[in-house]
Amino acid sequence: MKPGGNVFPRKLDRLLPLATKAEDLWIQDEHGNRYLDASGGPLVVSLGHGRKEIATAVYDQILNCDYTHPTMFTTSAVEDLARSLAAHSPPGIDRFYFMSGGAEAVETAIKMARQIHLENGRPRRFQLISRWHSYHGLTLGALAAAGRTAFRSPFAPMLKDVCHIPAPYCLRCSFGLHYPDCKLKCALALEEAIENLGPETVSAFIAETISGATLAAVPPPPGYFKKIREICDHYQVLLILDEVLCGLGRTGRWFAAEHYSVTPDLITMGKGLGGGAIAISAVGVLGRHFDAICSGSGSFVHGGTFSHHNVAAAAANAVIRIIEEENLIDRVHRHGKIIGEKLNRALSDHPHVADIRGKGFLWGIEFVKDKTTLDPYPRKEKIAERIWKSLFDHGVLAYSAAGFAGSDGDAIIYGPPYTISDDQIDFIVDALAQSLDEVSGSI
Ligand SMILES: Cc1ncc(COP(=O)(O)O)c(C=O)c1O
Repeated sequence: MKPGGNVFPRKLDRLLPLATKAEDLWIQDEHGNRYLDASGGPLVVSLGHGRKEIATAVYDQILNCDYTHPTMFTTSAVEDLARSLAAHSPPGIDRFYFMSGGAEAVETAIKMARQIHLENGRPRRFQLISRWHSYHGLTLGALAAAGRTAFRSPFAPMLKDVCHIPAPYCLRCSFGLHYPDCKLKCALALEEAIENLGPETVSAFIAETISGATLAAVPPPPGYFKKIREICDHYQVLLILDEVLCGLGRTGRWFAAEHYSVTPDLITMGKGLGGGAIAISAVGVLGRHFDAICSGSGSFVHGGTFSHHNVAAAAANAVIRIIEEENLIDRVHRHGKIIGEKLNRALSDHPHVADIRGKGFLWGIEFVKDKTTLDPYPRKEKIAERIWKSLFDHGVLAYSAAGFAGSDGDAIIYGPPYTISDDQIDFIVDALAQSLDEVSGSI
């Protein structure tokens, strides 16, 4: 099927409906069909669509001071945003470098880590360690870090060598172990990787605090990040937590790192920072690392035309104000539990549901062919895609994940805007139960 027009669309296997309106939690197409956005697109629309406060902030900023080159000026919008983020970030993270997309933030963090080592007289440190089943974006540097095989394969010869260790995915433990008897072997794998690479060569370890898009919302087991932090400290390896998806309130805390009392050296954020209305991402870094760059070479060798963008910063300031004024972190924390309870009540006994996991407003539901053996459906059945499509036909927009159990594995992710109502939660839970019955009953 060849789509018409001149757009090179994201999907070439189907014609995309024409969206004509997005308001609150609803998207409407040209035929008047309405869809409840239960994943905020790819977990990005955190405050609902069409927020006037963000639009006004953007409008005012454009009229007042739209673009100034970030090497020539700073503005109140950018300074205010950094100050707010410092107040909400893990302790000691008090400097923020702004970019546009999540992959850019990841690449910025990887480069920043390297330069921090250079400033500290450790020029041999350049290697990066990450995890399988991770997602860090699709630009070449971020993709090299990411551990999603299907996205990596076509470009594998072009990817920089990054060492991947197993993800903390207890349901399908790479070591065939069970928590807590495993003694967190998946965390200890970091130490082994550092030793194998040569500790004096390793720059950083990057991990999603809660595995998001690829594994479908898997929180780490207790003690995982404590162990990771100890290993990083021991080997002077910098810890980059990628919170592009799980930051900015998504899990019921400003940053998911708070759940695990872990302070990274660098933290990435994006998506919800602009509420989906505008592209903005950031890297937060510990003040002492910033100081090392300041008193060392005196500049971070990085940049971009749209870095530190005033209009994007104004939008993000409006987003943060809404989260604060509407007490949304607390709401996500409380209502997240309700979503979890409702999903469990409706689905946990289903013969094809293996796991319901998540935190706050980030939930993954994993489907299997056989619940007792956890055998997944063969990928060619495209179960996740079929459930996604059935939900779409019921007027519910979700996010699908696949290929995390070997090359099989199917899941649906729910990550609604923080303002979803109780009735809407019931609606999306009921729709999923119905779609699952329809799809699993038809195989
Ligand atoms: C954890 C994580 N990092 C990075 C990215 C890349 O962000 P973007 O799509 O804005 O480049 C994503 C996107 O889903 C993500 O989930």
